Amino acid sequence: MTYASVYAASIADPAAFWMEAAKAIDWDQAPTRAADAQDDGIWTWFPDGRLNTCHNAVDRHVAAGRGDRIALIHDSAMTRKVTRYSYADLQREVARVAGMIAAEGVAPGDRVIIYMPMVPEAVFAMLACARIGAVHSVVFGGFASNELAKRIDDAQPRLVLTASCGLEPGRIVAYKPLLDAAIDLAAHKVPRTIVLQRPELAASLVAGRDLDWFEALAGAEPAGCVAVPSDHPLYILYTSGTTGIAKGVVHDNGGHAVAMAWSVPNIYGVGRDETFWAGSDIGWAVGHSYIVYGPLIHGCTSVMYEGKPVGTPDAGAFWRVIRDHDVDVFFTAPTAIRAVKRDDPEGRLLAEKGTGRLRALFLAGERADPDTLGWAEAMLGVPVIDHWWQTELGWPALGTCIGLGDTRTRHGSAGHPIPGYGFEILDAEDNCLPTGEVGDIVLRLPLPPGCFPTLWQRHAHFQDAYLSQHQGYYTTGDAGLIDEDGFVHVMSRIDDIINVAGHRLSTGSIEQIVAAHPAVAECAVIGANDAIKGMIPLGFIVLKAGVKATDALVAREVVARVRDELGPVAAFKSVHVVKSLPKTRSGKTLRATIRAIANGETVAVPATIEDPAALDHIYQSVAKTSMLEG
Ligand code: COA
Ligand code: AMP
Repeated sequence: MTYASVYAASIADPAAFWMEAAKAIDWDQAPTRAADAQDDGIWTWFPDGRLNTCHNAVDRHVAAGRGDRIALIHDSAMTRKVTRYSYADLQREVARVAGMIAAEGVAPGDRVIIYMPMVPEAVFAMLACARIGAVHSVVFGGFASNELAKRIDDAQPRLVLTASCGLEPGRIVAYKPLLDAAIDLAAHKVPRTIVLQRPELAASLVAGRDLDWFEALAGAEPAGCVAVPSDHPLYILYTSGTTGIAKGVVHDNGGHAVAMAWSVPNIYGVGRDETFWAGSDIGWAVGHSYIVYGPLIHGCTSVMYEGKPVGTPDAGAFWRVIRDHDVDVFFTAPTAIRAVKRDDPEGRLLAEKGTGRLRALFLAGERADPDTLGWAEAMLGVPVIDHWWQTELGWPALGTCIGLGDTRTRHGSAGHPIPGYGFEILDAEDNCLPTGEVGDIVLRLPLPPGCFPTLWQRHAHFQDAYLSQHQGYYTTGDAGLIDEDGFVHVMSRIDDIINVAGHRLSTGSIEQIVAAHPAVAECAVIGANDAIKGMIPLGFIVLKAGVKATDALVAREVVARVRDELGPVAAFKSVHVVKSLPKTRSGKTLRATIRAIANGETVAVPATIEDPAALDHIYQSVAKTSMLEG
């Protein structure tokens, strides 16, 4: 079976293809048909099937006699501890946590927010929710209280699970005060939280609302797996949207389990007795799919790493983990490799540690620049594969399926369509563009199993945001081209999303925070190129007339506001105070022009500009900063 024949089969008869793939899953009630089509072209996958995702990720491996096999290796570069959990251990831990949350009245369909650092208990919590049919929503620790509050109001959780702290290089991040502030800000009143006290910092508990994790766990009866319908939601994961309101991306149980089980062997080429490491965070889509569900459903060993690529303690951290845990396939973001390359350009630490049995490196989250790809290929001597996906899709849509024997890669391209996905490049009038021409990257409907069927409580917005631009297609929000050999090149976004160290952020939502500062008359936030993070957000503000504070003071306050309201993950550190912003005569801010100037380009004066002098203000401000930095 070659990639070409498998791809062709998936497109010719998706129903037959995915019914066959569904055999990799244990169903409480096997589906008799692949899908029901909705009016909008979205399919409900395996509509009459019933299953439990936790059973598929944990219990069935124990039942098959693989209980002694290591399921999860937790490696913390922050505490220098390594903990291994066999599938039998995982079953025990998850069943107890499931009992603990069920004792709080959490029933199938109830939401549970998990605001936790990279500790094994966070994985137990996710699987425990799946076990009893509850819907988890993990919120990344780098988000501030305000963002957490928005997610609490949207998801309306019955329970929030948290930890006393996360460990970042040089600082301990106290999670509990952030959660307390979020609960105060939210309109939805969280009835119960359970707090994992880590030895590094004790959190204070609110009487009557907060429970200690270990005390609650001590009294809990292990809970069994509850079968749910295939389209029952497994999780909600919030991701940046263009409006500044995070979108609650929903993933179901049945389609998701099938996509996970199919993707690990066929895309990543990882076998059941092998070790897979996704160097991401459980707060992101990559963490959901390839730290937790994918490897465990397939029965592999998954590595969970608490630490950074550099500085914990050095740029050899990745290679140490790969060597120590016999990692076969590794997945990270290009930004992490750029950071390693910056600190260890000659690969001395890499040579010192070695890379054990590493067979392939997969990169995603942002465009992989050819320099980084070339460096990694030369240093590692294994295939380095760029692949592309989105929180909405839940698993890759472009890549090189090494599990199907494909080896083709091309620098600058994220690969070929993964089986199940039909790509087109369209212009604004829905015309398919010829080879080599840049347009909107879209996917033909229906989307394969595993992709989101809707946004939480906002199906009309789902249709409007993703299905309304091009009839019969899902709009990815990315622009790009397909070359003469069928490689798809993802070039840029068509909206206000930027990618900061592999994290997806909306410049619009940062602008909302900046504009709310009382001294700011107007503002623009753009994504400027950054050698390590790929992009960083950069603010340009015009002060209101009569503002007495110095430019530097307002800039500092604006930076602090974004950190307080959005979170440190935004990496918003620079603001330029300018006399005016360049605009068109109809009053539209010329953000693309500002971005080009900030990136050191000389731009032609746009024909529609209202006041060309505004361009000079941007040039001068950027030049002044470069001189200071230089
Ligand atoms: N909880 C609290 N704060 C967090 C956090 C968390 N879970 N994760 C990050 N932060 C904070 C960091 O401490 C940092 O704060 P600072 O401004 O006080 O330094 C800020 O958010 C930005 O963090 P990060 O994006 O991690 O940048 P960094 O400068 O600390 O490290 C890299 C740079 C490139 C090493 C790092 O971004 C990285 O490893 N990226 C990999 C990205 C990735 O895995 N993406 C997932 C998609 S596959
Ligand atoms: P997220 O939902 O956070 O995974 O972000 C998805 C977005 O990240 C995509 O729409 C792209 O804009 C970008 N992205 C992810 N992977 C790649 C890649 N391999 N190449 C280019 N862009 C990517």
